[in-house]
Amino acid sequence: MEELPPKHGAETTKRKVAHSDEHGFSDQVRVPNVIVMVGLPARGKTYISKKLCRYLKWTGFKTKVFNVGEYRRTDANAADAVHGANASFFSPNNADALKVRAESARRAMEDMADYLNSGAGSVAIFDATNTTKSRRKTIIDFCTQKRIRCFFIESVCDDPDIIDSNVTDVKVNSPDYKGLMTAEQAKEDFMRRIENYKQQYEPLDESEGDLLSFIKVINAGRSFKVHQVRGHVQSRVVYFLMNIHLLPRSIYLTRHGQSEYNSMGRLGGDSPLTSDGRKYALALAEFFEEEEVPGLRVWCSQKVRAAQTSQHLKPDFHTEYWKALDEIDAGICEGLTYDDIQQRYPKQSEDRAHDKYHYRYPSGESYEDVVSRLEPVIMELERQANVLVVSHQAVLRCILAYFYDRPLPELPYIDIPLHSLVKLTPRAYHCDSTIYSYDIENGKWSNTSAQLPLCDSPRD
Ligand code: ATP
Ligand code: F6P
Repeated sequence: MEELPPKHGAETTKRKVAHSDEHGFSDQVRVPNVIVMVGLPARGKTYISKKLCRYLKWTGFKTKVFNVGEYRRTDANAADAVHGANASFFSPNNADALKVRAESARRAMEDMADYLNSGAGSVAIFDATNTTKSRRKTIIDFCTQKRIRCFFIESVCDDPDIIDSNVTDVKVNSPDYKGLMTAEQAKEDFMRRIENYKQQYEPLDESEGDLLSFIKVINAGRSFKVHQVRGHVQSRVVYFLMNIHLLPRSIYLTRHGQSEYNSMGRLGGDSPLTSDGRKYALALAEFFEEEEVPGLRVWCSQKVRAAQTSQHLKPDFHTEYWKALDEIDAGICEGLTYDDIQQRYPKQSEDRAHDKYHYRYPSGESYEDVVSRLEPVIMELERQANVLVVSHQAVLRCILAYFYDRPLPELPYIDIPLHSLVKLTPRAYHCDSTIYSYDIENGKWSNTSAQLPLCDSPRD
């Protein structure tokens, strides 16, 4: 088989033009989107921007965040803006600073338009406060002129506990303060910054334009207001925002224990565990006895080796068996070793080495296919608290790439050894990753705080 089936990812689908909306944009052609954040400081705008960016990239949309604070800090004309901007810089009466802020926003908008109109990306996220109607009008006019679709996300939060913890845990470490003052001074200054913004804050409302599209996220997702959503990207964004939460939790990922096929170097299949694999299954159950994770849910693939790996876990961990967690389908290569494939289908080996992410096994799947079948799993992981996923190498690579924010071409090379467990704990702008490795010989766990590295060749 020489010809591979067409790629089907979000960026690669070509569709015919159909109906167009009031902007003249069709839902069926690729229209660049700008997602514009709105809200007072410490309302989670950067958090949402980064998280959304990671999600959209993982689903195949080339996406980039443009953070106006970073532009401000590199503004050569504003000495105090470069580093250590204190609350007075954000006063509505500080005319010089207002000019610097407008200029920083303008530079970010120009870069966004270049990014989208050059075809380098299809979604740009404009991360700034954008708290005034006039700033938003400038953005809307700019996007209309550049034929870019605009969607606003406003984070509204009046819960003093959330704001206090955002400032204490995250904001005092801002580059605006780092090395310049104590955490207490930084907190005090940041609270004054918020007060300055409040003086000119105009919440989003429908009257700002007939064509305005937005979602308001109220008190970190306790409620939402959604207005005039247009197109695929915007509806995906809304769906995602309605599923994420801020509660502390961890996600654990493990491959099944060693299977009979693993021990022979064969791909796929549905073989049971070897004796080493069974030892790992017991060790895993002991690990979770000791870890005492409240309300742990177990999600397992429907393959025998995964079910056997989870079988000794306490029955009160509710276990669900997901078909979507089954290993990548290697099609005509199922049951073969890599050497067999090289000998029988050399062209397939070559094509796979050339573009492992998009390569689809004849009558089977590509990594890109696996990512798209895992989207409901990611969305459900976002909604849940503590979860243990017992699955397979290719599937876990796709899930890890999401949490690690790794580029899609790297994804098929994340090295996930057998008999190791990854613990992911979401933080404000990233996920902590701890790797627990079980040594079958001495029956002991060891651990290290790191992300799993990339490997050159497939293993086990
Ligand atoms: P600034 O305007 O100073 O850049 P910001 O609005 O971008 O502030 P972040 O830096 O994103 O604020 O704040 C991070 C904190 O926001 C995290 O601790 C996260 O838990 C919290 N957070 C995330 N989403 C929300 C939300 N919808 N409402 C309130 N807080 C949130
Ligand atoms: O105050 C938070 C902040 O992220 C600053 O770092 C940045 O300069 C500013 O918001 C950008 O928003 P504005 O458009 O209001 O200047």
